[in-house]
Amino acid sequence: MEVIEFSRTRRLRSTPVLRRLVRETRVSAAALVYPLFIRDGQGVREELTSMPGQIRYSPDTICEGIEAALSDGVSSFLLFGIPDFKDACGSGAYAPDGVVQQALANIKRAFASDAYLITDVCLCEYTDHGHCGLIVDDAVDNDSTLPLLAQTALSQLAAGSDMVAPSGMMDGTIAALRSALDSQGFVSAPILSYAAKYASAFYGPFRDAAGSTPQFGDRRAYQMDYHNSREALHRIATEIEQEADAIIVKPAQPCLDIIRQARDSFDVPVAAYQVSGEYAMIKAAGAADMIDEHLVMLESAVGIFRAGADILISYFGPQLALAIHRGEIG
Ligand code: PBG
Repeated sequence: MEVIEFSRTRRLRSTPVLRRLVRETRVSAAALVYPLFIRDGQGVREELTSMPGQIRYSPDTICEGIEAALSDGVSSFLLFGIPDFKDACGSGAYAPDGVVQQALANIKRAFASDAYLITDVCLCEYTDHGHCGLIVDDAVDNDSTLPLLAQTALSQLAAGSDMVAPSGMMDGTIAALRSALDSQGFVSAPILSYAAKYASAFYGPFRDAAGSTPQFGDRRAYQMDYHNSREALHRIATEIEQEADAIIVKPAQPCLDIIRQARDSFDVPVAAYQVSGEYAMIKAAGAADMIDEHLVMLESAVGIFRAGADILISYFGPQLALAIHRGEIG
């Protein structure tokens, strides 16, 4: 009989322990960031209909959310403010007693450095028109928005923020923030830049939660077209030049290639933001018994890390931390 030579697929002669020993992708709860929403008011604990399982707090209740997440193993947070009062210039974003500023003071008083607080720097949750910057002649005006973003970052740092994360995609934001922070004594405050932020339908549930849907037009003038990847690399390079300390790719699952390219091309930490729509889809399909929510959550998170993310910003933060603790992934 003729002998056919063929090479077999290389498979590890494995046991569960060996499979864990040789995993290429390691996941740690220390790499997770959990976003939290804070609105005006007192005693607020409302579940977001568009994001089941996520709770909106007020400055006096936010510490409950932080405490619960800390006990699940997450210690880094991304804070978003949702004021009742909105105006054309988003003044709630940089008010010394704004919702985020109040929350920061309360959290720092209760948890000091146990909780690492990152604050979103953008005007869209604070403007009555819902855009990320000032409107001049019916369009978002890049340059006049920059001083307001710098003022927002400064007021957050003064209230206790550990790192500022500008998300509005205005050109020159990082340079404007860096020089303002340096001149006001925040030389060691890092900037996490949303450098690669796509104009994405996956932000839908967030806009619902934050009441930040643009009242006219859309964000395509300042967020990126998802057909492009070189544009993302160009933006990241520009923002690193302006001294961004770390960058965000957003959304995550549709942008695994961007995460990988960012990781391979630059040496700053890369954060991936698994956004509201990614979360809501997994929750909804899970609730409808179409998928196993927990397993899909695990696989998505590991996939994002495998693509090259150093940090994962996710509404699944606490659930993932518990799964990591139990050894289900990582
Ligand atoms: C604010 C901001 C948005 C998100 C984070 N920061 C909304 C937007 O750009 O419309 C979206 C986050 C999410 O969907 O979870 N500019």
